[in-house]
This record gives sequence, structure tokens and C-alpha cells, in this order.
Amino acid sequence: MKLRDAVEGRRDVKRWDLKKPDWRAIVRAIDFARFSTSAGNHFAVRFILVSDEAVIEKIAVSSQQDFIRKAKFLVVVVSDPSSLIRSYGDRASKYCELQAGAAIQNFLLGLEEEKLVTSWVWYYEDSQIRKILGIPEGASVQGIFPVGINSKVRLPEKRDVKLDNIMFFGKYGNKKMVPDVVVGRDVV
Ligand SMILES: Cc1cc2nc3c(=O)[nH]c(=O)nc-3n(C[C@H](O)[C@H](O)[C@H](O)COP(=O)(O)O)c2cc1C
Repeated sequence: MKLRDAVEGRRDVKRWDLKKPDWRAIVRAIDFARFSTSAGNHFAVRFILVSDEAVIEKIAVSSQQDFIRKAKFLVVVVSDPSSLIRSYGDRASKYCELQAGAAIQNFLLGLEEEKLVTSWVWYYEDSQIRKILGIPEGASVQGIFPVGINSKVRLPEKRDVKLDNIMFFGKYGNKKMVPDVVVGRDVV
């Protein structure tokens, strides 16, 4: 799959096929994350693959999002700043969040390549998720990803983000690459 197709094709999907995905395909998608950028080369992101139905049910209850319980697998992404704290002190937790975002995007593109779909869930009862999964003190949950096989249900049109609205040249707010030339004596 071409990178551009994966980037453009990825969508947030909350309904999937009833068939169970192959767990190896999910592992291959997680493997994409290893190659994401990380501050000082300290890779601080961890992935928990959850397949136990009872655990998925508990996580669905803790996040109050029904579609989660329909998944056969969840991937819970956790960041652990301990190795970053030694090098970066106070900045470590921010670095950790940024790094988790980069790693998650790689993982999402990996799922796209494997023809799997997911939705990034970031609403849950943090203390309950930590308890259910035995997440250590200091580490943070960065998202819960129920993974399924694309059911080919037509999705609503994606909001079109215009390049023109998100990019500036040289200075915040400047939308022109080439500045307007005002013809004056100095130009001629
Ligand atoms: C940080 C973050 C948190 C999110 N949290 C939730 C959530 O708790 N529940 C949910 O249904 N979707 C959640 N989403 C999914 C977004 O609503 C979805 O990605 C958005 O509609 C954009 O769609 P797209 O991913 O297809 O571009 C979250 C997405 C992000 C990036």
C-alpha cells in the first residue's frame, strides 16, 4: 500500500465486521510504532493487546462507550516517562505525550495496511482502566483502540481540511509563499 493511500484512507470507524481479526495482523500494525520518532531515542510507549472478553467488557463499562464491547481485540496504548525523566526532568511527560501521538499514528497506518479499523477512545475512568490492566504508577493511558475488520459500511464524508487553512509561510497567519510585490522606485 502506498503511504499516501494509507494516510488518506485511514478513518475513525466504530462499526466492524463480526469476524474476528487475526491477532498477528494487529501485532504487525503495532510493529509500525517501533519506528516512530522518540525524544533522545528513549522509546516510552507500550501497547497492551487485550483479547479476554471479560476484560473487554470491564473496559467498555469504564469508558461508557458501547461499541467497545463489540470488539474482539483492544489495544491499549500506555506511555511510561520513567526513562525520559532521567534525561529531561519536567519536560518528560510532555515529550511522552508527543511521542505517544507519533507512535499511535504509525500504529493507525499499520492497521490501515492490514485492512483493519479502529477508533481512538480517550474517554474512560482512568483509575479503573489502570486497575484492570495493572498499569504502573507514573505511566499514562494514551488511548484505547478497539480493533475490527472493515465491514465496508459506507462512512459519512470526511471533513475536508483545506491545506490553505492550516499552512502559513514565514510567519503565523501569512498565507502567501511569494509576497506581493509593490512596484515602487526601489523595484525598478
Ligand atoms: C485524542 C483523541 C481522542 C478521541 N476520543 C474519542 C472518544 O473518547 N470516543 C470516540 O468515540 N471517539 C474518539 N476519538 C475519535 C474522533 O472523534 C475521530 O477520530 C474524529 O471523528 C475524526 O475522524 P477521523 O479519525 O476519521 O479523521 C478521539 C480521537 C482523538 C484523536
